[in-house]
Amino acid sequence: MNGIGKSYRSGERQQVIFKDLTATFASGRISAILGKSGAGKSTLLNLIAGIDRPDAGSLRVGEVSVATLAEEDLCRFRRQRIGFVFQSFHLLPVLTVEENVMMVPELSGVSPAEARKRAVSCLADVGLTGMERRPPELLSGGERQRVSIARALASDPDLILADEPTGNLDGETGRAVMDLFTSLVRKRGKTVVVVTHSLDIASACDALFEVRDHGLFPLDHGVTSW
Ligand SMILES: Nc1ncnc2c1ncn2[C@@H]1O[C@H](COP(=O)(O)OP(=O)(O)O)[C@@H](O)[C@H]1O
Ligand SMILES: [Mg+2]
Repeated sequence: MNGIGKSYRSGERQQVIFKDLTATFASGRISAILGKSGAGKSTLLNLIAGIDRPDAGSLRVGEVSVATLAEEDLCRFRRQRIGFVFQSFHLLPVLTVEENVMMVPELSGVSPAEARKRAVSCLADVGLTGMERRPPELLSGGERQRVSIARALASDPDLILADEPTGNLDGETGRAVMDLFTSLVRKRGKTVVVVTHSLDIASACDALFEVRDHGLFPLDHGVTSW
């Protein structure tokens, strides 16, 4: 990210979120983002994924210049290169666990049979074999988050963005889900950016950043300096 500027305008009022933000997340690493509520952490993930556009500056994911992509190319970029994990899971209640995961490869044009195979394999990776045909509402919070991790991995994306993935889980469940997540992404050499309030989770990451004062700053001394 290079010289990123982002403001929101509501009526007369202009709210500056980022001003001249420059930062790099190393590929193949897990980076944690800390910061106060309302500082702009989710906005930053949205900018990286091209869900939101910066007012100024440039930003690149691998060789793709995200900020200048046309809407249609952005959609394809997101579908193929980015995986999302959200605090509130974002599973579709009318679909089974397996269908929730299948949906991602299917949207990329993979045949239903192949998509199902991928879903079954990704669900096995997160330890949910046997749960494929259940509706998400019959799963615990930790299990639901594992479904959403399987879904994030189903398109084999380069970059995974996780916005407070353990925010709705108790401490122990959150840790277990995060351990599984990090071991999976490390094994596959994925790049991960995770927003978290948990110092426990942040300290297990390779690099730490803080969103503050309209920018993103490395925390070189780890969580003790936060
Ligand atoms: N689409 C939007 N329109 C207007 N304001 C927004 C929008 N998205 C976020 N904001 C505002 O930007 C600020 C940062 O939000 P957010 O990135 O969600 O913070 P965080 O994730 O760090 O809690 C907040 O004040 C929020 O209200
Ligand atoms: Mg947020």
